[in-house]
Amino acid sequence: MPRTLIVSNRLPTKVLRTDDGLTFQPSEGGLATGLGSIYRQGDNLWIGWPGLFVQDEGEEQHIKDELRDDNMAPVFLTEDEIRDFYEGFSNSTLWPTFHYFSEFATYEQTHWEAYVAVNQKFCQAVLAQAGPEDTIWVHDYQLLLLPELLRQARPEATIGFFLHIPFPSQELIRVLPWRTELLRGMLGADLIGFHTFGYMRHFLSAVTHLLGLPAQNGQIETPNRSVRVDAFPMGIDYERYAQAAVSKEAQQHEAEYREALRDTRVILSIDRLDYTKGIAQRLRAFDLLLQRYPEWQGQVSLIMLVVPSRDQVPQYAALKEEIDELVGRLNAQYRTISWNPILYFYRSLPLEELTALYHLAEVALVTPMRDGMNLVAKEYIASKGDQRGVLILSERAGAARELSDALIINPTDMSQLAEAMHDALVMPEEEQQTRLSAMQALVKRYNVFSWTRLFMNQLAYTKMKQHTLATE
Ligand code: F6P
Repeated sequence: MPRTLIVSNRLPTKVLRTDDGLTFQPSEGGLATGLGSIYRQGDNLWIGWPGLFVQDEGEEQHIKDELRDDNMAPVFLTEDEIRDFYEGFSNSTLWPTFHYFSEFATYEQTHWEAYVAVNQKFCQAVLAQAGPEDTIWVHDYQLLLLPELLRQARPEATIGFFLHIPFPSQELIRVLPWRTELLRGMLGADLIGFHTFGYMRHFLSAVTHLLGLPAQNGQIETPNRSVRVDAFPMGIDYERYAQAAVSKEAQQHEAEYREALRDTRVILSIDRLDYTKGIAQRLRAFDLLLQRYPEWQGQVSLIMLVVPSRDQVPQYAALKEEIDELVGRLNAQYRTISWNPILYFYRSLPLEELTALYHLAEVALVTPMRDGMNLVAKEYIASKGDQRGVLILSERAGAARELSDALIINPTDMSQLAEAMHDALVMPEEEQQTRLSAMQALVKRYNVFSWTRLFMNQLAYTKMKQHTLATE
């Protein structure tokens, strides 16, 4: 029976070493939820890094055995590989380049070599598991070379690839010394998916200009095969958020928060620590709001949750310091005995606390400088059962292509952002409802399950068409 193998850098389960031995924690990420409907079925499998460095073969075997029971196969990475492949090429070369932060990008040959080696390691791990009839679905920028490596080993295999971050203008891609290898790596897939048509157009243009390959109507002709390219905007598990927001636990948390905040109104911002998310710019815009509209002083608080991430990469450590400093300065400048302008948390929160915050917040600020999709925007919408709340959304998040009923802003325009916060705080309830209900219908319908189905159906159809053409 043919199986589906999902391949991503991280597994949906994190393994942690504690005083009591190894613990296995389910990851809360959107990808894990969506693909849970696939990899847990039958003999399907998810292949990826379990998030820790193993100490010996015994530990390695123990992890393999535990994960096998939950349809996962680990790829173990060493500390050097994490430094050069993950922190290095993936997050210091590709991540800044693909998010239009070229000034942060480094171009280290050793990082590139580690990237090639780890993609080869993943290839071996997949080949050890994959049968000739299996479908392989590779995810994200850490594994751009993997589709082609698999294709060389298995010319007939069915391979899909999805990029979860933006694909930038080819002007950015051409800066990379390894641009040709990276594009060729992706073209090993039968179907390549992006969140938006904009990213897809950039990719087609890069392939045409940098590889000289003809591309038409989402179809690229390579010397031996044709490759399909399409947009699949990723969704969330809508019901999970809608239900969690009204669960007893979330309601208790919300009641506690309301009591502590008294009548203060809440603007909410939730992000992983990342310079692409526009966190510092958002703080400056909040400062501007308080200067321009002093009547909000004492009335509105910004609750800012920053989830720790990639803290070994220098730009992330520097950003953390900048945020700490800005929050300290603004709070010292504005706070009163009874009012905190900014409530800043540097940690992650469990689902019930998160949805309690979404439900409580009158305004959500999702203002990245660049973001492939941004699922926080969709989670906020799903958590708003009472249809009261306003989403302020950056025009440079993939989600803005779908969520046109949000207040769409340019995240570098401080003035526009401050005005949008003011407009959101004074928006009549009827208008809030109209906007939210339109977005809820969309987010509910185009959820993570329909996203998975659409991609898998399109991949099967693409393969079938290739066979038909080959036998004609
Ligand atoms: O947005 C791309 C992405 O890889 C997500 O899939 C993931 O949740 C996030 O970045 C953080 O990734 P990591 O912690 O593995 O660097």
